[in-house]
Amino acid sequence: MTDIVVKTVEELKSAPEEYREAVGKLVISHAINELYGAQVFDEPAIALAPNPYAKWLTCRVAMEEYGHHVRFKQLGQQIGIPEERMMPGSAKKPLSIFEFPLKTWEEFVAIKLLADLAEILQVEDLLHCTFHPLRNLARATMPEERFHAQFGEDFSAELVKTPEGKARLQAAVDEYWPYLPKFFGGSKSKNNEIFRKWKIKQRTNDEMREDFVRRATEVAAKYGLTLPEVRQAA
Ligand SMILES: [Fe+2]
Ligand SMILES: [Fe+2]
Repeated sequence: MTDIVVKTVEELKSAPEEYREAVGKLVISHAINELYGAQVFDEPAIALAPNPYAKWLTCRVAMEEYGHHVRFKQLGQQIGIPEERMMPGSAKKPLSIFEFPLKTWEEFVAIKLLADLAEILQVEDLLHCTFHPLRNLARATMPEERFHAQFGEDFSAELVKTPEGKARLQAAVDEYWPYLPKFFGGSKSKNNEIFRKWKIKQRTNDEMREDFVRRATEVAAKYGLTLPEVRQAA
């Protein structure tokens, strides 16, 4: 275990190269994935939302997800990462959870219910990050991620009031769930090993994945939903 605390962007300049690179990788992946999620899910969902109230809240979610991208990208630029490396189309591919083609409102509700819970776990892991600007960004975005997951819960509660709504939401969960466990990365990830070595991140990918499956199962059960069995990512 290597003890280091980096309080400012300025201090990062004198941190070991491996540490700087690891911080850069993490900031790039957050910047890209927040933007991609906003583009393929949150913004299109505004058109799918069934009424003005749902559209209003979906606009807020989309605004906040774009905002997360903007803030991560700003931090990236402060630490010297070129802007194009933090945009889709760069060498780093967005995560496979974004390959799901969004078609219905129920799918969007399932995504907020489950994928934003996955986001919460990722942000929670950064709350103790040794690079304090990243830790502070996690603290600032956490209330918004909680709002997104609550949005998923509230609209799930609404949908399951009718048998048809519940069946449509369950079908969306069945379709989307298989994309999720992979979100946490491989079991033997070299990047994750380096993140933990420097306490940039705290938990292994498998620990996060197991915790996520447990918490997602609980949250789904609150609305009478079940999660399909999925083979864990290797
Ligand atoms: Fe986000
Ligand atoms: Fe979110």
